[in-house]
Amino acid sequence: MKKSWSKDSRVWLGILLLLLLLGGILLNRGGAVPEEAYGVTINGVTVPPVPTLNPDQVAQGQQLYANYCSSCHGANLEGQPNWKQPLPDGKLLPPPHDSNGHTWHHPDDLLLQIIANGGDPAISTMPAFRDTLSDAEMRAVLAFIKTSWGREEREFQWWVSSRQAP
Ligand code: HEC
Repeated sequence: MKKSWSKDSRVWLGILLLLLLLGGILLNRGGAVPEEAYGVTINGVTVPPVPTLNPDQVAQGQQLYANYCSSCHGANLEGQPNWKQPLPDGKLLPPPHDSNGHTWHHPDDLLLQIIANGGDPAISTMPAFRDTLSDAEMRAVLAFIKTSWGREEREFQWWVSSRQAP
């Protein structure tokens, strides 16, 4: 008698667990998922959510930035004072790379191209790094630069980098 009761209770326990599981699945489906989890929407175009930066890549980029970029673009990515004002000979000054500059206006492809090929020598002292840095190293510097952007700048730059041309 005792034996069959405990068998019954195990069946009921099983049913209860199943119901809890089902309830959990249903609740989860209807649950509030934050809007931004679906991606970044600008001008009605949605791209996937902003990916998390790889800390190892960022650390490598920080070192490379200090060695190769900080002398012109500033130790804290602040650029040169009055960088918006070209020099009397028409040359442009190194702009900041943080949120105050316009680096974040441009997609990854263009930024990597500028780092690899340098600026137009007529108006720029930006060196070409293609013979100094590998593709992975240039990407690492860019990843480090991204850590200095605010959320809006980061989202915008991710959006311009990942949206498909119409
Ligand atoms: C000798 C000085 C100098 C060094 C060193 C230098 N830059 Fe520049 N960079 C400039 C100048 C000047 C400009 C602005 C003119 C231009 O865009 O070509 C510039 C522009 C840029 C731009 C374009 C920014 C924009 O918003 O259009 C990027 C990206 C950039 N540099 C990245 C780097 C990185 C990364 C390094 C290090 C690997 C680096 N620079 C090292 C002088 C320098």
